[in-house]
Amino acid sequence: RNMIYRERVDSTNILARQTGETGFVDGTVILAEEQTAGKGRLGRVWHSPMGTGINMSLLLRPAIPVSDAAKITLLTGAAVARGLEEITGLKIGIKWPNDLQIQGKKVSGILTEIKADMDQIHYLIVGIGINVNEQDFPEELRETATSLHMEVGRQVSRIETAAVVLNHWEEIYQRFLTQGFTVVREEWKQYAVTLGKEVHVRTINETIHGQALDIDEDGLLLVQDEDHQIHRIMAGDVTLRT
Ligand code: BTN
Repeated sequence: RNMIYRERVDSTNILARQTGETGFVDGTVILAEEQTAGKGRLGRVWHSPMGTGINMSLLLRPAIPVSDAAKITLLTGAAVARGLEEITGLKIGIKWPNDLQIQGKKVSGILTEIKADMDQIHYLIVGIGINVNEQDFPEELRETATSLHMEVGRQVSRIETAAVVLNHWEEIYQRFLTQGFTVVREEWKQYAVTLGKEVHVRTINETIHGQALDIDEDGLLLVQDEDHQIHRIMAGDVTLRT
């Protein structure tokens, strides 16, 4: 096992990539107190000021096809959700694919990055950001973001939270590697807040309006549009239709 800790880093995912380019131990955990260029999905910035959140990347070398990488994002979401429920006693929801929410506000996000050649994964990075002890957010996030502290009304131990999340992660990851995605999918669905709802899904090419039906055996989102056509969505932004 290997662990890398930094006070300050541009992004733990970037440090993970640099580490991945050299020899590395499968399962290396990278943690930083502060990120100066924390990365979110779809080119967004992940707010990660000094000492308040968990900024963590897992560096892995799984022997799975590249097309299975999305499943790792989902299993990580389930592991973080379970860990955060255990720590806070609050209900955690997951908005497909990877937004963890408490009462509709985002408390954690996951950014998976992959380096592969043909169908061989060189390394896979699972970046996990958790808002733990923030007591306020910048104006532009105030409506949509929350932290564990803001929800439970007291300081929450980051080290304990990270440990609980990692233990669940390890358990679910091993289960995925040995038994496949079926069990993980059931676990993930217990936290799903988008399924069965009317949604807008914005993908790179189009916006689909319809009902989110399920996730399939590959972790893709199934949405049925107004013409009863079913779309399998690999990546996109889901908003609930109001
Ligand atoms: C998202 O919801 O858009 C994903 C956010 C992922 C943030 C984490 S923090 C640790 C790791 N390093 C990064 O730069 N991003 C991820």
